[in-house]
Amino acid sequence: MTQLVVARTRAELAAARDALPGPVAVVMTMGALHAGHAELVRRARERAASVLVTVFLNPLQFGPGEDLARYPRTLDADLELAAGCGADVVFAPGPDVVYPDGDPLVRISAGPLGQVLEGASRPGHFDGVLTVVTKLLHLTRADLAFFGQKDAQQLLLVRRTVRDLDLGVEVVAVPTVREEDGLALSSRNRYLTPFDREVALVLGRALRAGEAAAPEGPSAVRRAARDVLVREPAARVDYLALVDPATLADVPEHHRGEALLALAARVGSTRLIDNVPLVVGRPG
Ligand code: PAJ
Repeated sequence: MTQLVVARTRAELAAARDALPGPVAVVMTMGALHAGHAELVRRARERAASVLVTVFLNPLQFGPGEDLARYPRTLDADLELAAGCGADVVFAPGPDVVYPDGDPLVRISAGPLGQVLEGASRPGHFDGVLTVVTKLLHLTRADLAFFGQKDAQQLLLVRRTVRDLDLGVEVVAVPTVREEDGLALSSRNRYLTPFDREVALVLGRALRAGEAAAPEGPSAVRRAARDVLVREPAARVDYLALVDPATLADVPEHHRGEALLALAARVGSTRLIDNVPLVVGRPG
């Protein structure tokens, strides 16, 4: 295994980047790495000559009452995991490195796609995400960027940013990695008590029920998922939506073809999201 290079400053990143053979893939993270992040790094490893992982807890994408202060910070373990999956460089800057002038005055606006679903509950969240993603793409000069389907709206918005602003990077999607019992891996799963973790399984169960009803049409999908969720009142549902994967608009009852079933719920003090892409209607 080649030695992992850790860069903390822009100068260290630039030097490490210059030494990398191309094409270079970037995997952006906020740290507290888990097997979902590891899968992104492994996929990147398959496609690119070099893999650069960023570990940056981006304050810009957290709202006032959100979990920035308690978000897990596990850099030593993150470096070990990144090295074990074949990363060449980890860029782990502090906020003063990424935002040397304080909060940026000029930002990327996510537009209408950033105001629904997650954006409706988290105003400004996607502007913060897309601003840091754009900065990290420029700083790393990556040829490819890997993002998880777990954050489907984020993935869509990154694709739109790259297209709408001609960022010239190939965005690659990676399917959601789950525990054996169906819980989608998330850094926020560390907040769950054993009781919460049992409750949290309802998200995956609801999505699977919706998926199973997909041949019968949109209202059957929504009903099947909702029926599962109401039986677990300890999960407080924020939204459950069956949407067009390109526009995030609710699909009408006559819709057939690809759709995204997405949901967010609070379990204890933790807000969890999950989704599943599905095909509505009977094939043929
Ligand atoms: P973070 O939540 O750390 O996630 C980093 C990347 O890992 C994202 O692309 C996310 O979709 C992916 N990921 C997380 N859990 C996954 C799972 N269970 N299966 C597959 N992929 C998974 O998303 C962010 O950080 C930030 O918003 C970021 C893009 C880094 C900008 O700050």
